[in-house]
Parts: sequence; C-alpha cells; structure tokens
Amino acid sequence: MNPRIVNERNVTDRIEAELANLESHAQLRRLEAPGGIDLNSNDYLGLATDPRMKQAILQAVNSAPRIASTGSRLLSGHDQAWTALEREFAKWVGAESSLYFTSGYAANVGLLSAILRAEDVVFSDSANHASLIDGMRLAKCKRVVFPHQDLNFLEDELRRNSAASARVIVVESVFSMEGDRAPLADLIELADRHGAELIVDEAHAIGVFGAEGAGCVAQAGLSGRVLATVYTCGKALAAAGAFVCGSEKLSEFLINRARTFIFNTGLPPYFSAQVAAGMRLAAAADAERAHLAENSVFLRNRLKENGFDTAGSDTQIVPVILGANETAVKFAAQLRGRGFGVRAIRPPTVPPGSARLRLSLSANLSRETMAELANVMKEVKEIEEL
Ligand SMILES: Cc1ncc(COP(=O)(O)O)c(C=O)c1O
Repeated sequence: MNPRIVNERNVTDRIEAELANLESHAQLRRLEAPGGIDLNSNDYLGLATDPRMKQAILQAVNSAPRIASTGSRLLSGHDQAWTALEREFAKWVGAESSLYFTSGYAANVGLLSAILRAEDVVFSDSANHASLIDGMRLAKCKRVVFPHQDLNFLEDELRRNSAASARVIVVESVFSMEGDRAPLADLIELADRHGAELIVDEAHAIGVFGAEGAGCVAQAGLSGRVLATVYTCGKALAAAGAFVCGSEKLSEFLINRARTFIFNTGLPPYFSAQVAAGMRLAAAADAERAHLAENSVFLRNRLKENGFDTAGSDTQIVPVILGANETAVKFAAQLRGRGFGVRAIRPPTVPPGSARLRLSLSANLSRETMAELANVMKEVKEIEEL
C-alpha cells in the first residue's frame, strides 16, 4: 500500500497527522470516566459528595425566580447574590474586594490580558498553569519564563528588565503538577525590592492551607500586598468558577476591561448557593484539612522509602516522576487494573522527559487506602522493573 501523502496545508489532513503523531509518542489523551479509588480528583476536602452541599443547591433551585442568568453580568445576567458572595469571599481571604468569573481559566485569562500591556514584562514560573500562560500570551507583553522556583534567575531577570513599563511576577501558591509551594514571603520581598508586583494563583491552596483554609497568601499575611490573587472554586470548594481578589479598583477595572468577564454569560443565580456552601463548609473543615495533611505526609514518606521520586511535593498533590511517557502510561494502567484510578501526566502538561503519575489526595481517603496504594505502587514497580 502506498503511504498516504499528507498535505499539511489542508486542516483535515493536518488533524489526522497530528493525532497519529500523538498516538505514536504515547501522548494521545482520551476521555475516561474515573474508575476505582479516584486519585485524580481535586476534591481535596471531600465536599463533592457532602449531602450538605446537595441540600444547599436544592434549596436554592427551589426558591430561584429564574434558573438561568440569561446574559452577561453586565447585561441581564447579574444577581445581587453574586455581589453578596463576592463580599463574603473577599472577607474570608482578607482581600479588599473580589470579582467572580465563570471559571478559573476565564479568571486568569481575563485578569492577565486586561492588566498587562505590550510594553510590560511578565515573569512566569515555568510550571505555571496553561490558563496563566494563555492570559500572558493574549496580553502580547514580553514574557520571561524562569526555571521552576529559581529566585536567583528571577532576580537577574528583574534587574535586566528594570527599564520596562510594569513588571509583574506570576506564580501558583501550590503548583498543580509539582505539589510544591511558592516561597511567597521571598517573592513579595523580591518584588518590592525591584518595584515589581505579584500575582498568585491559589487554585490548589484555597480550602487546604491557612487558617480556616483561606489560602497561602492569607497564611503568609500578604493579602494586602499582592496585586491580585485567583481562587478557583472547582477544587476544594466543590463548585466551579473563580474569584479574582485585590483592591476595589482592580475589581472595577476588571468589570470594565476583562473580556472573559464582559463577554461571558453569567452562571445561573442559584449556582451562587453552591459556591457559598462550598466556601462556608471549606472554611469550617479543620478536621478534614488536618487528615489530608497527615495522609499526604504518610503517603509521600512511604513512596520515598520505596525509591520513588516525589519531586518537591509537600502538599496534597504528590507527583511520582517516572520519566518516559510509555512508562507513565503503563504504570497508570497497572494501577487502574488494581483499583486505583490514576492517570499518567505527560508533556505538554509537564516538561519532556518528566512524565509522571499525579496522586491527588482527598480528605475522604483513609490511612488504610494510603498504605494500600503505597504497597501496590511498590509491587508494580517491582513487576515492571522500574
Ligand atoms: C493552577 C490552576 N489555575 C487555574 C485553573 C483553571 O481553573 P478552572 O478549572 O476553574 O477553569 C486550574 C485547573 O483547572 C489550575 O490548576
């Protein structure tokens, strides 16, 4: 059979070629419903199955005058419930103000593309989430990517770019693929010293770290010192959407300039009850936070004892670095076969050669489950001779 000539100028052909290429590099992703004990979930506090959440939502649906927002919040889609929630959320995390977006992706893209201009420089940790990267790309400003957590490199670049208009450092407080934490106090000190500003994405920290789960920025006492903080609600808060927190002026600016806020239909008003319930239950979940932290330490120690590389993780996100894509895929399949729902994380989500398993823990997993998981991982490692 003649090999098919692929015309890359034809989009249909290009799609086929690219899919075949992904498949041949063990990089093709497929949608799969979670099976077994779920270790992919961001339901860190176990609120996704909490009956109190369901009750709050049902009550809100039953008393809602309308079940759709019917438009952008700047048109018919606003409801006072959102304003009340924005105030309550800002108070929780110690910010002056907050603005709710329909997703964390929309919040990051809207925020960064609105505040940054072409003459600015943004300094971005190499492990930052795609939504942050896309926001910076849209802003068309100069982007300096510094190696993950390398503050010396960052400082050199801040010096080198001292003549730029605005300079903004962007990090996650808990990195989603590494499970380590940004040194926020050092970063703000560095920013202050060089006249730069700091933005922190707290997607994986809200509900998990800080007093009442108010996040790492609040925990470090930096709420009034960062330019903006982004808190997604689809993880520990068992809802969806995200709050961008900062000054009153920042919220006012975003209402007028963030395109993902302006040109996006608001979520249904009743949904604010789900976000509110998630926020309040998360704030009160001290026992779950403690259990999650203890289990994270336990699992990490067991894995390290068995020769696994958990990178710099010191949170509920425990990566297990395996290297080759094929190894990660095979390992994840073995674990799934033994009842643990684990996915392989491969490039481009992580740097080439650092394919991994990402074990994402939840407060509803027991110590026994952690011990069993560690044993099964050891067993698979020996069978696969890794
Ligand atoms: C660090 C980080 N920021 C932002 C997002 C995007 O949030 P959302 O899923 O609500 O769009 C995610 C994950 O989804 C994330 O891990």
